[in-house]
Amino acid sequence: MAERVLVALLLAFCVAIYLKKRKQLGLPLPPGPSGLPFLGSVLKWPKGHAWVEFNEWTKEFGDVVHISMMGNHVVILGKYSSAKLFLDKSTVASRPQFPMAGDLMGLAATMVLAPHDPHWKKMRRLTHIFMGKNYVEEFSGVLQSSSKDLVTMMYKESAKPWNNWDPLRKCIGEQIFTSLAENALDRISYALIVGSFWVDAFPTLKYIPPWFPGAHFRRHGADTRHRVFDMVNLPFEHVKKDMSGASCPPSVTRNMLERLTEEKDTDESGAKWATGSLYGAGMEPVYAAMTTLILAMVLNPSVQEKVQAELDGVTGKKRLPTYEDRDELPYFSALLQETLRWHPPIPLGVPHCTTSDETYLGFSIPQNSTVFANLWGIGRDGSIYREPESFRPERFLGPDAELSPENWVFGFGRRACVGTHYARLSLFIYAASILQTFEIAVPDGITVQPEFSPNTNSFALPFPVKFVPRVDWLEALKGSVP
Ligand code: HEM
Repeated sequence: MAERVLVALLLAFCVAIYLKKRKQLGLPLPPGPSGLPFLGSVLKWPKGHAWVEFNEWTKEFGDVVHISMMGNHVVILGKYSSAKLFLDKSTVASRPQFPMAGDLMGLAATMVLAPHDPHWKKMRRLTHIFMGKNYVEEFSGVLQSSSKDLVTMMYKESAKPWNNWDPLRKCIGEQIFTSLAENALDRISYALIVGSFWVDAFPTLKYIPPWFPGAHFRRHGADTRHRVFDMVNLPFEHVKKDMSGASCPPSVTRNMLERLTEEKDTDESGAKWATGSLYGAGMEPVYAAMTTLILAMVLNPSVQEKVQAELDGVTGKKRLPTYEDRDELPYFSALLQETLRWHPPIPLGVPHCTTSDETYLGFSIPQNSTVFANLWGIGRDGSIYREPESFRPERFLGPDAELSPENWVFGFGRRACVGTHYARLSLFIYAASILQTFEIAVPDGITVQPEFSPNTNSFALPFPVKFVPRVDWLEALKGSVP
């Protein structure tokens, strides 16, 4: 008898929680795929490339889609206008908890995953100052010289086709950081896909001891956590050591530390986590965009010819292009935009979290909802982009130019990307240098299908690709770097 009472009480408790979670503000939840009681639509959550399935849900249910995951509310905004309007609100500026990536892997204090709290505000303030347009352009010399290294290395490797992106990845992330962090970055990108780890659905699993059978995720988390701390600490300590000596080259870390000294602020953790976050958050999407660009060039040889003709006209094939050339390279600039639209580096952005009950377009969106903007879906929206499947840089030129993806590919509201200027600069320099120096092609007899990784940062899956030198590269490099 006592057992039955206990079970009944337990059930009543679960129902109460379930009903509380479903409590409306007099308005219905947005429509979405149906689910089972308590479990919600866990079984319908897409296994990979969730952005494609989410886009289908947008077509079926509308701009705002709701899905329940074990009683947690997940909202998907599939259109540019709804994402912009909703995510611009100050009450949608936090992040959901990621038990695996945040707690177990140690990323909860990074700028990307930190909640909307004083620690995040301090990181954001410091970063805004030093990632602004003028500061960032100071780094164009460094990037220019790193792109020279990239094309030199590619030239050496140009005799045989590439089958992976390792050389590109290595060059884009500075060597010292890469060796410390690249493994961590792969793991992080995977851990951030909702559904990769059960612990994200059942947060209490994070308390299982690492030795427990089946608790592989705990050991994986702890190992990645070490790498994350190295990624954040080692470069920071390196700059501090240099600053105490005779010479220290300019860097974001140095600028932030100097600013803290001026402000007589002795708490360095904001600066440390901010710069660590920049490396982690910045390298992956730039690398992803570069792989997409290479794929697009192979699939669209006429676009490649056109852009190379434009670059040749400006450089005379005698030097590498520089950021100062940008006003004379409209087609190339449109190519970069089309690359970001065609396959956004972070197709689902980074989810936001509501910090209060909201109403939107006649629906209720409860506090603590996880909110995604389907950036990939926005890029494929036929009401904004004509023939969205085709790769046409021309869409961004002339009086009828379509909406620039820069309006949405970097996210929305208070959590929008802080690295936009750096991203623009580095993509420009790397892409222009590669396209000026090489014809990008596939070996004879190979047909390439566009395929992308399912990770949060989604890159083109490697395929056999040749980089055929198209300039006397030694001549081209002479005098190209200031
Ligand atoms: C093409 C390159 C890039 C793309 C497409 C991109 C895109 C994004 C997106 C979609 C978000 C989430 C915005 C949101 O929550 O609404 C984001 C956040 C962020 N990005 Fe980028 N990003 C790029 C490059 C960079 C670079 C180069 C850096 C740093 C140097 C950087 C640093 C960050 C940081 C720190 C955040 C977290 C901001 C916060 O939560 O407060 N990103 N980025």
